[in-house]
Amino acid sequence: MKIDFFKIEEWMNKYEHLAKYDMTATCIKSFSLKEFFEFTNTDFSEIYEKPLDYGYITGSPRLKNNIADLYSGKSEKNVTVTLGAIGANSLVFTSLLNRGDEVVSIIPTYQQHYSIPKQLGCNVKIIKLKPELNWHIDFEELENAVSEKTKLITLNNPNNPTGAVLSEAELKKIANIAKTNNAYILCDEVYRFLNHNSKTNNLSIAEIYADKGISTFSMSKTFSLAGIRVGFIIANETLTEEFQHQRQYNTISISAIDDYIACLALENKDKIIKRNKEIVLAGKKTLTDWVSSENKISLIEPEAGTIAFIKYDDKRNSYDFCLDLFKTTGVLLLPGDAMEVPKHCRIGYCGNLKHFSEGLSEFSKWLKN
Ligand SMILES: Cc1ncc(COP(=O)(O)O)c(C=O)c1O
Repeated sequence: MKIDFFKIEEWMNKYEHLAKYDMTATCIKSFSLKEFFEFTNTDFSEIYEKPLDYGYITGSPRLKNNIADLYSGKSEKNVTVTLGAIGANSLVFTSLLNRGDEVVSIIPTYQQHYSIPKQLGCNVKIIKLKPELNWHIDFEELENAVSEKTKLITLNNPNNPTGAVLSEAELKKIANIAKTNNAYILCDEVYRFLNHNSKTNNLSIAEIYADKGISTFSMSKTFSLAGIRVGFIIANETLTEEFQHQRQYNTISISAIDDYIACLALENKDKIIKRNKEIVLAGKKTLTDWVSSENKISLIEPEAGTIAFIKYDDKRNSYDFCLDLFKTTGVLLLPGDAMEVPKHCRIGYCGNLKHFSEGLSEFSKWLKN
C-alpha cells in the first residue's frame, strides 16, 4: 500500500549528518551508556549478565508496572509496549481503523497522524491549530468537523512543532466532543512532563477520557533515550488486548536490553526530568533572547517540549529558506512546509548549548546579508 513521503524524516535523513549546526533535533542532549549508568547509580555488571534472548514478549512486568505508574488509575493491563512512539501510533491506527472510517486530525503534527489513516483508506478531515490562538484549537471548528461518523480524533499534545500545551479544560472539551459522538481520541504525548512552567497541564488523555482515550508516549524525548527504541500505548483493557493481538505480527518483543534500561530510567524519573528540564529551559532562554534581537524572526513561545516554531520574514518558501541557510552556514532547521505550515521553521534548542549559540550567531550573520 502506497503512503505519502514522510516529509520531516526525509529532510532530516538527507541533511542532519552533514550539518555543522543541526537544529532539527527534537531530543534533549542524550546520555552515553556510561553516563546513564553513573547517573542512575547502576552497577555495569548488571548489563553484562543479561541473556540476549527475546526477553518477555509483551515487555517485562517490571517495565509495564513502571509505565502504568506514569498514569493515575492504570495498571499493566492498560499497557502495550512498542518500538518507540512511532511504533505505538502506527499500531493504534492499524488496529483501530478500516477503509472508509472518518478521522479528524489536528495539525501541525507528526505526519503519521494523517498519512497513515489516509493510507488505510480513511476519510481524513484536517483541523489547523491557529497562531492567533497561540497554536491552540479553534473549538468551533473542531465541533463542526466531528460528527457521529467520526471514528477517531488524533492530535499531539504537547505539540510538535509549536510547543503549545492544551489545558486540562481544553482536553476535557475535546473528550466531551468525542464522547458525544462516540469517537476515540489518540493523543501522542511524547513531550509529556517537559512543561516549561510548573502550572502547565501534565494530564494525559488516557486519564481524562478513560473509556476511549488512547495515549502514546516513549522514552525518546522526556527521558533522552531515543537510542533505546521503547514506546508504549495506554488504553482501556479491551483495546489493549486488540493492540497486543495486532502487535504479534510486527514486534515479537522489544530488545531485552532496552527494556532493562527503560526500567532504570523510569525508576529515576524525577532525577532525569530535573536534568532535562534544566537543559530545556537554558536552551529556550538562549533562543528567546536571540529571537528578540532579530527583527526578521518572530516566535509564539513554546509552553513545553524541546522545539519551537519560528516565523521568518522573507519572500522564499521554507524549503528554499532552509536550504540556503544550510548551504551558506551549515545551520540546519526544519522547513515549516514539511509540517504543512508555510513561512515557519522548526528549531530544536536542547542539544549542546554552546554549539547552539554559535549556530544562532551564524544564522544572524546570514539574516543580515
Ligand atoms: C510527536 C512525535 N511523535 C512520535 C515521535 C516518534 O518518537 P519515537 O519513536 O522516538 O518515540 C516523534 C519524534 O520526533 C514525535 O515528535
